[in-house]
Amino acid sequence: MSQSVVVIGILAVAGAAVLAFLFANASRQRRAAENVPPGMRPGYSDEQLERSVLERYMAWGVVLTLFFAVFFPVYWIREQSRTAGAVEASFVSQVVAGEALYVENCSQCHGGNLGGGAAPSPYDPESQWPAPNLSNIVTRYADNRNVTDIEQFIIRTLQIGRPGTPMQAFGGQGGGPLTDEQLNDIALYILTNQVEETEEASAAADLSGEQLYTDNCLRCHGEQLQGADGDPARPGKNLVGVFQRHSEESILGILQNGILVPTGAVMPPWQNGYQEQPYTDEALQTIIDYLREQQPADALPDEGGTEDTDEEEGAADDGGADGATDEPSPSPDV
Ligand code: HEC
Ligand code: HEC
Repeated sequence: MSQSVVVIGILAVAGAAVLAFLFANASRQRRAAENVPPGMRPGYSDEQLERSVLERYMAWGVVLTLFFAVFFPVYWIREQSRTAGAVEASFVSQVVAGEALYVENCSQCHGGNLGGGAAPSPYDPESQWPAPNLSNIVTRYADNRNVTDIEQFIIRTLQIGRPGTPMQAFGGQGGGPLTDEQLNDIALYILTNQVEETEEASAAADLSGEQLYTDNCLRCHGEQLQGADGDPARPGKNLVGVFQRHSEESILGILQNGILVPTGAVMPPWQNGYQEQPYTDEALQTIIDYLREQQPADALPDEGGTEDTDEEEGAADDGGADGATDEPSPSPDV
């Protein structure tokens, strides 16, 4: 940089000298011609045209050439750092705006520093509905089969919320108060404040399948596995007859990866825990065993009549909204 400063200095001095010469020359000629009206002043002689006039034009050419030869590179060098600075400034202001929006709209549930929290359940105000930790959401979804673009996933979640859970819609699309730009800012704030750790997966060996179901699944799938069929507001699907619809292996896959539904009702993934404590496959298997125990005999694949299958699939498709579901009553638990 100092080298170019020296070069510019020298060029500036040279340019100033040329300019000074030109001005002195011009004012000398102007003074001589001042007494003659402009129209009667003699034109340049051939000798002048070939010498001083030509030299003057050439001198101007040199000055301008030097000027641009210096101006463009210097401008170009500065422009790069200027645009980089501007991009960074707008990024920083987006993240700052995102943080303010987060504190105002999200921190009461997701915690002051994205660390997670809870909100009262809409179905039982006494019990708390966990609001996931957002500070490790990138790591939690890194291996997820359903989520390939975590930024889009966050923005989509903000746009439509999670119907049936305390997570409301924030985007205009879902009737929320925030603009797309504000949602982007919030997503950017979340993504720039990530830690890489998740909790160690727990085998939850000391917890029964029933306990695990009560802690993690009941709030969406209901006390008797009936989900939205028992309470249309609940997001979860009826799990009676689930073994007729899926193999045990694919149920494990569902528990690991969750299910993303365009309407926003989400079956969360338990592979890396959308909660504090992720579960190992053994713990998930304990839950699957519990689901099997809770099935009425005729809702299991081998014995189940085709009649039941039809009913349950119909119920599953319309989320029980028409209430036309005479489920075989699930065996009462507890
Ligand atoms: C009233 C409490 C509440 C508020 C306010 C709230 N959330 Fe949530 N949020 C939740 C709950 C509860 C869940 C989990 C829903 C479920 O069980 O699937 C959730 C889920 C999420 C998820 C999905 C997390 C995952 O691991 O899949 C994201 C992302 C999210 N919220 C972001 C936000 C942001 C950003 C805001 C503020 C604009 C916000 N939430 C405001 C309660 C809230
Ligand atoms: C935040 C609410 C929520 C929680 C918590 C939840 N689920 Fe779900 N679950 C859903 C929704 C919504 C669906 C239906 C998705 C769809 O439409 O395909 C579903 C679907 C399922 C399915 C597939 C059912 C089928 O017939 O296709 C299984 C199995 C399941 N959940 C098991 C569980 C288990 C076990 C737990 C606890 C570890 C659990 N879910 C926790 C919301 C939830």
